[in-house]
Amino acid sequence: MYSADQTQRLQKQTAALLTRARSGSLAVKDLEKLREALRFHEYRYAIMNDPLISDFEYDTLYKELEKVESAHPELVDASSPTQRVAKGLTKDFPTVQHLVPMLSLENSYNAEDLLDWDRKARELSDLNELEYCVEPKFDGASISLIYEDDLLLRGVTRGDGVAGDEITTNIRQIRSVPLKAAFSQYGIHLIEIRGEVLMNKDNFAKYNEQLAKEGQAPLANPRNAAAGSLRIKDPREVSRRNLEAFLYHVSYFTTIDGWQMADGHLSATSASPAASGKRKAAAGEIHKALQTHSGSLKMLWDLGFRSPQKERRLLKGIREVIDYCEAFEKGRDGLPYEIDGMVIKVNDIALQDKMGMTTHHPRWAIAFKFKARQATSTLRKVEFQVGRTGSITPVGKIDPVPLSGVTISSVSLFNEEVVREKDLRIGDRVLVERAGDVIPYIVKPLAELRTGKETPIVFPRKCPVCKHDLVKPEGEAVWRCMNINCEAQVVERIIHFASKDAMDIRSFGDANVRKFFDLGYLRNIPGIYTLPYDKIRELEGYGEKSVANLQSAIETSRHQPLHRLIYGLGIRYVGETTAKILAAAVSNLSEFADYSMEDLQNLEDVGPKVGASVYEFFHDKDNLKLLDQLKSLGLNLTSHRSAAPTGGNLDGQTFLFTGTLQRLKRAEAEEMVEKNGGKLLSGVSSKLNYLIVGEDAGSKLEKARKIPSIRILTEDEFLKLVED
Ligand code: IVH
Repeated sequence: MYSADQTQRLQKQTAALLTRARSGSLAVKDLEKLREALRFHEYRYAIMNDPLISDFEYDTLYKELEKVESAHPELVDASSPTQRVAKGLTKDFPTVQHLVPMLSLENSYNAEDLLDWDRKARELSDLNELEYCVEPKFDGASISLIYEDDLLLRGVTRGDGVAGDEITTNIRQIRSVPLKAAFSQYGIHLIEIRGEVLMNKDNFAKYNEQLAKEGQAPLANPRNAAAGSLRIKDPREVSRRNLEAFLYHVSYFTTIDGWQMADGHLSATSASPAASGKRKAAAGEIHKALQTHSGSLKMLWDLGFRSPQKERRLLKGIREVIDYCEAFEKGRDGLPYEIDGMVIKVNDIALQDKMGMTTHHPRWAIAFKFKARQATSTLRKVEFQVGRTGSITPVGKIDPVPLSGVTISSVSLFNEEVVREKDLRIGDRVLVERAGDVIPYIVKPLAELRTGKETPIVFPRKCPVCKHDLVKPEGEAVWRCMNINCEAQVVERIIHFASKDAMDIRSFGDANVRKFFDLGYLRNIPGIYTLPYDKIRELEGYGEKSVANLQSAIETSRHQPLHRLIYGLGIRYVGETTAKILAAAVSNLSEFADYSMEDLQNLEDVGPKVGASVYEFFHDKDNLKLLDQLKSLGLNLTSHRSAAPTGGNLDGQTFLFTGTLQRLKRAEAEEMVEKNGGKLLSGVSSKLNYLIVGEDAGSKLEKARKIPSIRILTEDEFLKLVED
């Protein structure tokens, strides 16, 4: 897509733009340069997976473009890099017709199937040997995209194949889908392309970890994660899921001079010069790239799409195809995303047209399905586990069965809805799947093997541990025990507090916590710091040395940085990243008790959901008591930043930021203050020297205006103050 020369030019352009961004001298004449640079870096990041600038530098340029565009709204068009993000929620996803029905593929499972299919294909095409394009069968959610006059017009789910849901706003969040692509260079006016939206394995694992931390049921596989993400009504949430898209088929186009291609079939439209006899109706009239499947994929790649490029092969004859498919199957675990097979396509589009299709699938293509990582077993019983946030997870116990290298005896059943939907019963023969590194799950019961002795799964309505009534909060799939003193939850909270990513108390894992809890040596988190070591020494298996190690690990943890403690508190929706952002915002944890919802949401990455959860936590009497206890036990509740260096040009002055800053991130601006010897305050009072005001500043600005000693600065004035 970008040649070496273009890359060099755009790198230089980027460097120049960044320098000028720092001196604040970018203006409307730079608009196209900014867009061009941002598109290039989007491509390096999303398609090449090889960014040439840091996230911060990208954000800097992005903000500059936003600034120029907000001063000249008349110059904004839908393909500007700023226009991916949508404000507000999507109301609904209207149903729209596909330009050409989305067919599925015929399946094959072994070499014989492929040999049979090839024989039929050769007969149909009257050729001795066919040229095939072989590419991965991506395991995600299928979509179709329409571009008109080089602009992304709409994105649609597969639906029933004839019509799907219009999900354009969500598709725009996927950075590997260009908002603008120069199809006109190929003579194309309007085009429909098909592909698959995926969540890669890393992002899927991270996403499931996040769900687990939030006490929500993890998703079964990346395919479900991708499909579910496309139907989310908050586009910003879609953006956070880091979806990717592979495009692999051109199903329809019209050309600027009046040709139409639908499902490989070329015709002249009535309004076209071709139809009126000025041109001859011949396939040669359309761009060469569009005459073969591999040519279309190359065109898509050259226009900035992710299409199978390294992953595809042009092969002559079915023998080579079989070898390639088998080799690919062996390497499937090494790919960053899930594939469930390969797709073999006749490369010549005119031949595809000649071969045609059945009502279900094209005759010119076939899927070669990889061996499923599935096995059958019997569901013996269901246990209900209580998580840290009270979520109740049903866990199925099955007869042990080997599955891709490990023996499986427990499977996740996720939640009641999933179990009901699948109509699972105790005693059922079940199909179990394990995709990649994902927790094994039950695909379905084999209902035809039922004997009549199977019994329904009874879901508890009382907590299996503390017997409190369970509730199912609106909009959630899981039942919860709301008794925060429920022993199961307390134990899980202590385990989480001590865990590696939180307070990292070595040798104080699951087993020790449970044991001390059962013995009554430990009742809550503060109890970690008052363990009765003399009694522990008397326990079997607890030698002098191991107790000394435990004691020292616990002592050391008192000085862990604040973000670890915040994460360890297990506030809902507060993962490690948010914990760091929160820790960086205050000098002392107790300051959050004075934070309003607005203050919280002004923090980077803190939206309404996280904000409300943090607010609730720090306005709860019991939680504040817990923090007091931890403080008197000598735990560090202060941010390291309070030990700020002095001697800078802001020495001794106090600062507070409000509203959204345009050029700096909040945390960066605050770091600047501290590095230069200034001090940050958390509220407006007569002690405050400077209030720095960003966009949409609220009550703090009003309050500060009433105190004459406070100087109110814009972000630029602040930067100048620091530089001077
Ligand atoms: S071609 C008219 N190519 O597999 C032919 N499909 O089981 C259009 N899929 O509905 C499909 N990777 O969602 C094609 N490289 C690939 C594919 C692919 C995944 C999906 C697609 C299709 C399903 C059929």
